[in-house]
Parts: sequence; C-alpha cells; structure tokens
Amino acid sequence: MEPMNWGEGDTSYANNSGIQNAEQNRMKPMIEAAIIDLCTSTGTLFPRNMVIADLGCSSGTNALVLVSTAIEAIHSYCIQFQRQPPEVCIFLNDLPDNDFNMVIKSLVTLRKINEPIVVASVTPGSFYERLFTSGSLHLVCSSSSLHWLSKAPEVLTRNHIPAYNIDEHARHEMLPMIHEAYAQQFKNDFTHFLKLRAKEFLSGGRMVISITGRHSDGMDSKLFHIWESIVQILSVMALEGVIDKDKYDSFYMPMYGPSSKELREIIQEEGSFSIKEMVVRGLTSGADSALFTPKMYMCQMRAVFEPLIVKHFGEVMEEFMRTAERQWSLDGILRDHLARLTWLCVSLTKS
Ligand SMILES: C[S@@+](CC[C@H](N)C(=O)[O-])C[C@H]1O[C@@H](n2cnc3c(N)ncnc32)[C@H](O)[C@@H]1O
Repeated sequence: MEPMNWGEGDTSYANNSGIQNAEQNRMKPMIEAAIIDLCTSTGTLFPRNMVIADLGCSSGTNALVLVSTAIEAIHSYCIQFQRQPPEVCIFLNDLPDNDFNMVIKSLVTLRKINEPIVVASVTPGSFYERLFTSGSLHLVCSSSSLHWLSKAPEVLTRNHIPAYNIDEHARHEMLPMIHEAYAQQFKNDFTHFLKLRAKEFLSGGRMVISITGRHSDGMDSKLFHIWESIVQILSVMALEGVIDKDKYDSFYMPMYGPSSKELREIIQEEGSFSIKEMVVRGLTSGADSALFTPKMYMCQMRAVFEPLIVKHFGEVMEEFMRTAERQWSLDGILRDHLARLTWLCVSLTKS
C-alpha cells in the first residue's frame, strides 16, 4: 500500500483531489444527519464529549472536510436547541507514510472554532488494524479510501497469475477467476474492518463512508473500476516495450469496487452495523465537468497512483503521462469509462 503524492506541488494529492472533494461535499447531508441522530439519542450518548475519526484522510484540504462538517453540524445543533456543546476529540487516520506533516499543520484551523471545544490529533496506522480504544467512537467518516484492500489477492500473487493479461482472449477467459479473487479479498477485508470498528464504537455510534463501486453485479470484459483506466495505459506501455512485460504481469492494484448489492450483503452478513441509508451515484453526477477533462483527470489519477506505479515500474511517470494523454484524448474513451463508475455512500449505525 502506498500513500498519495506528498506536499503541495503540481503533482501533489493536495492540489489534485477535486473528484474526491466533490464526493466529500455530497456526503455532507449524511454526516449532518448522523450528528443530529447522535445528539438527539437518549441515555448515555448525549455527549459531554464526542469522538470523531476520519479514516484514510490523506493530506491537503480534503483531510479536514468531513470532520469539519461534523463539527459544524454539532455547533448548529447546539445553537438551535440551546444545548451545552460537547467537547470534541478528532482523530485523523492514514497509513504511516502519509504526509502527516501537512495534516498536522492544518489542524490549527480546527482549533480556531471556539465552540465546541475541539482537540485533534493524528492516528497513523492501517484501518485494517485496531486504531482506537474499545467503546470510544461516536462517529467515523471515510471518503475514497475503503476500496483500498489490505493486499492484492494472494491466490493471484502466489501463483503468478496476471490480473490484467495483455492478450485480450486470455484476459476474457481469466476474468471470472480474477474477479472472484478480488471480490473475496474485498469481502475478507471489509468484514475484518467492520469487526475491528465494532469493538471501537459505542452502541448507537455512526459511520458514514463512501467508496468507488460499480453499477452492475455482472462482469463484462470492459473497464469497470476507476483504476482500470490506469492499467489500460500501462498495458499500452508494455505493448510498446516502454515497460517490461514481466513487470506488467506481476502488477496488481490492491483495490476493489463492489456493487451496492455486494456491499449490502457483506454488511448484513457481518452483522455489527445496520444500514441506515445507502446511496449510489455516478462518479461525475453533480460534479464540475472541468474535473473530468483528459488533462485534469490525468493529474488527479497521477496524484493517487504515482507512488504505486513508481514503486513497481521505476521512473516511468513522464512516459505514463504522455501515453495517457494520447489515449484519453481519443474521442469517447474517457467518457465511456467514467460513465461506468459510481460512488457508493453508506450510513451505518452500530447495533
Ligand atoms: C484517495 S485518498 C482519499 C483521501 C481523502 N479521504 C479524500 O477523500 O480526499 C485514499 C487514502 O486512503 C489511504 N489508505 C489506503 N489504505 C489504507 C489503510 N489500510 N489504512 C489507512 N489508510 C489507508 C491512502 O493512504 C490515501 O491517503
């Protein structure tokens, strides 16, 4: 697992995360509703203090969007109903190699809000491990992160089965097996994630997460995940001899986007959380179309995938960008690809 591109430069995640930010903005009503539920629930939950975490926060302004939404919702609720605001403890989580320096510098903006009292800190670690103490969490938010798997499926890596065969016929033949391996890995990871968080939540605690998914349950031989456009560019580079074919065959994206049905079934089968609301929306719907021009899309994909690509293939990014520009400028290719992609946003309650 690799973090996003560091810093504030031209290729940084901080400056190239508009697509993810658009989805964060669309998550806001669910987060506000979760806060109102938490504030109005009776018994132990009306909070003298509230613990809120963002999992997979990355760096840049997006890192604070979801927790700021929650803080503002608490503020509004307490003013409207004249309640004493709870003290709020914020945890921002990501992998240890994330650009936490940048996150820490931005935390002061949260402290500027006087009410409620907010204390904030970072929690480096994988969300596939325990991160918080038992029974401590009120609200967890996560955007564009939980489609990252803990690892690529071992059944593929151990047996050297290429996930993205260059040969179209072989790729088509193998697709059901590859798909099943990834689906199973996602199921294992997401089930494990829910079990871990279930220990960390208070009863009645809330979780609002959004991940990329796909429209249909079936498979087709064409692209259906956001990162497959990246793999397609790499396959062109392998065919043109720019990257080594063996290297290409041993490349696995540790990501999976489920259908809404699949996600619902995993949550229900695991059983610790009930689904309050699930929304499926097109990746581009309601977002500024300027984010999806070939050039903008390329920069945003680079900010996410460069560390993973460079780690596996070496310094190939300039050639990658040239090939992507050539491919994605072909009429219709990017549009067709984007039309297949969805966000799955789900609001959960800890039983
Ligand atoms: C595309 S970024 C999303 C950042 C931000 N939430 C947003 O919406 O813009 C995905 C983030 O998930 C993080 N991530 C991936 N796997 C993770 C894991 N197992 N534990 C914690 N963070 C992880 C990555 O490091 C990355 O920063």
